[in-house]
Amino acid sequence: MSAAPIIAPSILAADFSRLGEEIARVPEADWIHVDIMDGHFVPNLSFGPGITATVDQITDKVLDVHLMIENPERWIETYVKAGADCIIFHVEAVSDVVKVAKQIRSHGVRAGFSLRPGTPIEPYLHVLEHVDEVLVMSVEPGFGGQSFMPDQLDKVRTLRAVIDANGLDVTIEIDGGIGAATIEQAAEAGCDAFVAGSAVYGAEDPNEEIRTLRALAAGARNAEHHD
Ligand code: DX5
Ligand code: ZN
Repeated sequence: MSAAPIIAPSILAADFSRLGEEIARVPEADWIHVDIMDGHFVPNLSFGPGITATVDQITDKVLDVHLMIENPERWIETYVKAGADCIIFHVEAVSDVVKVAKQIRSHGVRAGFSLRPGTPIEPYLHVLEHVDEVLVMSVEPGFGGQSFMPDQLDKVRTLRAVIDANGLDVTIEIDGGIGAATIEQAAEAGCDAFVAGSAVYGAEDPNEEIRTLRALAAGARNAEHHD
């Protein structure tokens, strides 16, 4: 588990007409989470490599690119060129998880996979050595502003146990419905990184909200360790 909880605001919840200012409002962010939706894998469209490249020009922060698209393997090089530092694909969208992870890593960027809420983690526990990150969806992917699904934390607990038992260097990130009311339970379950869209950009002071979320996550983790 990494030292400090990683907070990754999702720009899906930002005002796209002033993206530069919206990113400048969150200097406390550890990563910027970039949600790519194709209207096929999920029933919504967001933006693509052009906007991602613009975000990369605006900020030096780590770009955590979440591909909610079909055939993600065809787009890896494009997102590497657009400035992605980590590329996350969905296991439901590929036939060979290890092959796609290797393809991503071959470009020198971090590789991760994500699972829809209905997808079990067990079939993927033996491929963890091939990824740097696992993104557990705590809402059905496609839209921001949905309610957190606490049952997904069982997946996080399983991952935490396997990662720790095998000494693996894999970041567990959670995405969907994360805010002040839910981040502590996710941290207790073993998450390292937390995506927050509406909680951050819906706050009066998004930067202060990031500090609050990080402190809550850190406190919940410490409480867990001292039990
Ligand atoms: C959902 C996206 C999320 C979304 C999170 O498909 O993957 O990253 O932006 O939004 P909130 O934090 O509002 O649930
Ligand atoms: Zn996401």
